[in-house]
Amino acid sequence: METILTDELRSKLIGLAREARLKAYAPYSNYQVGAAVVTPSGKFFTGCNVENAAYPTGLCAERVAIFKAVSEGERKFTTLAVVTSNGGTPCGSCRQVMAEFGLDTVVLIADSDGKLRQEVTVAELLPGAFGPGDLGK
Ligand code: THU
Repeated sequence: METILTDELRSKLIGLAREARLKAYAPYSNYQVGAAVVTPSGKFFTGCNVENAAYPTGLCAERVAIFKAVSEGERKFTTLAVVTSNGGTPCGSCRQVMAEFGLDTVVLIADSDGKLRQEVTVAELLPGAFGPGDLGK
């Protein structure tokens, strides 16, 4: 079974990312981010940004969601949703991590009202990505 990106699935992913965003630990930037991914078999994983007093130690919401999924044995994601107050787009490091697991993953970029601001693929977010293929994988 392959998950198909219907409006219902868009709403579900954005809803999960909005909920995850409420758990953000962002006392330094005060910029809360939530993310959710779905696998081809329909499993969902969520993440929020987790900051740290030693600033670079923190991690973005998208990578928390992806790493949670990978640590549970998942390596393919059909769609990822990210929610911020203003529809901010994923940072470069998150784009690189997304690219590792598939350039075709669809990324839904939404704001905290749940409004979909952009719908793009990872390939569009990171043209010319360096990836597993460059290392013969
Ligand atoms: N942040 C994310 O969680 N995802 C992004 O793609 C952009 C930035 C977080 C990192 C930091 O906790 C806060 O937003 C401000 O940069």
